[in-house]
Amino acid sequence: MNGLTILGTGSYTPPFALTNKMLETIVDTDSEWIKLRTGILSRAIAAESETTLSMATAAAQKALDGLDRSKIGAVIAATITPDYLTPSLSCLLQRDLGLPTDIAAIDINCACSGFVMAMKTAHTLLADMPGRTALIIGAEMLSRVTDYTDRATCVLFGDGAGAAVIRRDAAGTFASDCGAVGNAELLSCRAQYLCNNPFMPRPRDAEPGAIAMNGQEVFRFAIETCSESVKRTLTRACAEVDSVNHFIFHQANRRIIDGIVRKLGITPEKCVINIENHGNTSSATCAVALDDLFRSGKVNAGNRIVMAAFGGGLTYASAYFTQSEEIKYND
Ligand code: COA
Repeated sequence: MNGLTILGTGSYTPPFALTNKMLETIVDTDSEWIKLRTGILSRAIAAESETTLSMATAAAQKALDGLDRSKIGAVIAATITPDYLTPSLSCLLQRDLGLPTDIAAIDINCACSGFVMAMKTAHTLLADMPGRTALIIGAEMLSRVTDYTDRATCVLFGDGAGAAVIRRDAAGTFASDCGAVGNAELLSCRAQYLCNNPFMPRPRDAEPGAIAMNGQEVFRFAIETCSESVKRTLTRACAEVDSVNHFIFHQANRRIIDGIVRKLGITPEKCVINIENHGNTSSATCAVALDDLFRSGKVNAGNRIVMAAFGGGLTYASAYFTQSEEIKYND
């Protein structure tokens, strides 16, 4: 039972599109610069009424469509922008989706590597839950933590959610790799707390809770660690790069994906690219891209799929699985 297969996928993207041209009106940037340096044309931004939970729920509803919810044994939500510190996003999803209560409900803070880590974690958890499935989600409202006066970051990020229902699979193969290089200098977002101990007053955190980043260093880290992680995962799966049918890389910057593709010698057409209209939605990018891939009708039974991501932490993760069956979508 070492394999993993996907039973359903779903995604949700807010309808409001923040285009490069619109960004030109609020920050010192240039539409063409953004397109050339990142591959992004627009990104979805959540409306006031939307929450990370509402987006995650919408994506999960689609992934669960036609599936037996009573079989879900784990719900694992990857997010760095939850609505609450507690209860976790996964607990709120258990409630709102009417999932069983004898369930492992866990949030993962692994930034952009979160959805791949959710898959890896779910695969492990399901090992002692025979007959059960897992719901994994990547959901982010990065507009909450984006400083729209900082052109080095605000052109990159967007909001959205993606989800998948998975089960362990006797016939298939699953292999994975992950790592962390703790670093709060290259990519970070400080938590905001009240700090209001009346007997020992101290000032609130001076820095706002916004993403701060050294773009060039993160760029280098991304290409290097992601490529090496995929190589290790493929070795563990006893698979060659050429035998993989579909690659899903974290959609942070089109040039990073191109760099990984070159380094690994991948046929570019095998890569899912949707960064143009989404931007970087952190843990949601791989989840949304997975949904796009499955709904495109390009995944056949027996196909080999690789997902890989990198991000804050710094972290990286990759996974390989063989898809045992085609998914039929009703919508
Ligand atoms: N609009 C216009 N010009 C911009 C700009 C913007 N939004 N952001 C930066 N520039 C300018 C810089 O000021 C610099 O100008 P200068 O040459 O006059 O000093 C020039 O463009 C080049 O800046 P640089 O930082 O070298 O650009 P880059 O090619 O590295 O692209 C990023 C910047 C952020 C797009 C790129 O480094 C990147 O994507 N890094 C990875 C970030 C990431 O993925 N983070 C999340 C990880 S999960």
